[in-house]
Amino acid sequence: MKNWTPQSWRDFPIQQQPNYENLEELASVEAQLKSFPPLVFAAETRELYKQLANVSQGNGFLLQGGDCAESFSEFSAPKIRDTFKTLLQMAVVLTFGGSCPVTKVARMAGQYAKPRSADLETIDGVSYPSYRGDIVNSFEFSESARRPEPQRLLTAYHHSAATLNLLRAFAQGGLADLHQVHAWNMSFVQDNPLKEQYQDLADRIEQALRFMEVCGITSENSPSIKETQVFTSHEALLLNYEETLTRCDHLTNDWYDCSAHFVWIGERTRQLDHAHIEFFRGIKNPVGVKIGPGMQEDDLIRLIDAVNPNNDAGRLTLITRMGADVLGDKLPALVRRVQQEGRQVVWSSDPMHGNTVKAGNGLKTRNFDSILKEIRQFFAVHQAEGSYAGGIHLEMTGQHVTECTGGAYGLSESDLAQCYQTQCDPRLNANQVLEMAFILADALKSARNGQNV
Ligand code: PEP
Ligand code: CO
Repeated sequence: MKNWTPQSWRDFPIQQQPNYENLEELASVEAQLKSFPPLVFAAETRELYKQLANVSQGNGFLLQGGDCAESFSEFSAPKIRDTFKTLLQMAVVLTFGGSCPVTKVARMAGQYAKPRSADLETIDGVSYPSYRGDIVNSFEFSESARRPEPQRLLTAYHHSAATLNLLRAFAQGGLADLHQVHAWNMSFVQDNPLKEQYQDLADRIEQALRFMEVCGITSENSPSIKETQVFTSHEALLLNYEETLTRCDHLTNDWYDCSAHFVWIGERTRQLDHAHIEFFRGIKNPVGVKIGPGMQEDDLIRLIDAVNPNNDAGRLTLITRMGADVLGDKLPALVRRVQQEGRQVVWSSDPMHGNTVKAGNGLKTRNFDSILKEIRQFFAVHQAEGSYAGGIHLEMTGQHVTECTGGAYGLSESDLAQCYQTQCDPRLNANQVLEMAFILADALKSARNGQNV
């Protein structure tokens, strides 16, 4: 890679970064992190790359999800377990619906840095720096809490390591057993107000599992039933941190950002001549870029070529986040152009970030139907353009929070305050995620069979 080093991003303009006061302390933290073990191994990252290459060719589906922002204070085994469980439950439904492998990428074990719309937050005439995620400063509104602290990079590393450790244990140690995951789905359906709508699909999965068992395919003799593979991801926003975990793989001599298997660039930091694109240019991970409604066709091709000059399948996932009412207008031209130019990408839908609204009580929220509408439009556009809708990217949790309105339980704006816990954007709760999975299973099936979604 010409003129690239893990630190070459430092020569470029950069957006959305904290202003550290103590640069010596920052340098000392960075030096420590550079001596620490990587969080993931390059061979795992290559496996994800391969899976995403299959997705880009229409032979799989990418399911990515987790908190908008993980937090140090909400760090616990039940929280990690519940989000992972919900992701697995969703994956089973989608695998069956789409009859295709589902690649599970958790938005976990490192999702600690947040871009913000303003540098300062003002409450009652007092202004402090905005909260930029727990890797930077604290959510609490005070001068000291909002001061960027380099030590937080170390805490983020250790929290990520512990989260990843638990995810690996869950994935390999029995929690991910297909029968177990299906049993959870059955109880979700039993308790759901819209039970009749989901019962049929749940029963069909039940029959498939029984059939496999009769044929002798059981958890005891088939690891693929008992275990699963889960990958991690986050927005690679704080490049001081990402640089320290970027390591040269001795097998291939390539550089990998070993803070996660998959990293992405957000909508606000994807300027072609800026630092984040420079950093991504040199790492071999599969990567994502968020695409908002303002993206122009020519710029998209330039962006693709900057990040994936060899047009390698699996390298680049374009995560569209345009809003339910806008996507239908803006996406077709982009998809058409990418098709015409023969660029290989995975198209994934983030139906969350274009559909954020302020509720009457001032809380940020998103409506279930708007989220669903954006996903449906996403499938429809790809179908009309002869392209493949390859994945979804959700802000979600396994907890029973009240942050998004709608869904079978009819959450209204007045319910939001009951259990509103997010440090940043509103997440779908466990029931809303599963409901989404059951609805999407049909859309995925139709899309993969060339029928109208
Ligand atoms: C996010 O994924 O939390 C995010 C900030 O997204 P975007 O960059 O698309 O706004
Ligand atoms: Co968010």
